[in-house]
Amino acid sequence: YRDKINIAIDGPAGAGKSTVARMVASKLQYIYVDTGAMYRALTWFMLKEGIPSENSENVLQKAQNMVIELKPHVNGQKVLLNGEDVTPYIRSSQVNNVVSKYAQIEGVRTKLVHLQRQMALEKGVVMDGRDIGTTVLPDAEVKIFMTASVKERALRRYNELSQTEDISLEQLEHDIAERDRLDQQREVSPLRRAEDAIFLDTTSMSIEEVVDAIVSYCVIHWDGEK
Ligand code: CDP
Ligand code: CDP
Repeated sequence: YRDKINIAIDGPAGAGKSTVARMVASKLQYIYVDTGAMYRALTWFMLKEGIPSENSENVLQKAQNMVIELKPHVNGQKVLLNGEDVTPYIRSSQVNNVVSKYAQIEGVRTKLVHLQRQMALEKGVVMDGRDIGTTVLPDAEVKIFMTASVKERALRRYNELSQTEDISLEQLEHDIAERDRLDQQREVSPLRRAEDAIFLDTTSMSIEEVVDAIVSYCVIHWDGEK
């Protein structure tokens, strides 16, 4: 009964973007699009094929015939690469440690941004990433920029990864800070808050509090003017 809108959620690693975006989408019966998963799938593929990020021409050539699809799934979303479900492989430390290097390559971004825009054409999309509010969907009706302290973000990641990987909190804190640095300093659409994005520090907020804050804002926004 209301016109659908697009919601852009950006911020650094471990801010809670994907968890929150998925829940907001589910509450509003919107589609969730995890753009990080697309950069991760591409990275996983390049690692498998042995193509280093430094060799951007080879990366782009390999990426030409690469088909990335996102499929809605009970636990969020599946990522298919050339038809293969790569979801289980893309969140490893191996991918974490180099994904920002592949994401710096201009041609990689052009290709993925194009796909992402197509996914949002019909509205009713909650999309999370680094450059959604600034570059991918600059006209999104609602933009959120969420962050949390590096310590808190590393702790959140630690709680997830320590079950499957032997990794220390200190190492994670270091890795996250390094990825923040690369994402913020790259030349092509770096991680930064869009001027019209709402800033949300989630350091001491629960997931539910963040979700409620965003959904209430959207409801108010729908009725008001921007
Ligand atoms: O979940 P987490 O925040 O750790 O990362 P992600 O959202 O899955 O994104 C992984 C990496 O992909 C980021 O560190 C960025 O380098 C890159 N990325 C990007 O450049 N632009 C996006 N819209 C989304 C991700
Ligand atoms: O997508 P992004 O990297 O920004 O973060 P995420 O993967 O959604 O969240 C990282 C972890 O932090 C997840 O295990 C969430 O359950 C947790 N989290 C939290 O404990 N408190 C929040 N306010 C948000 C997320």
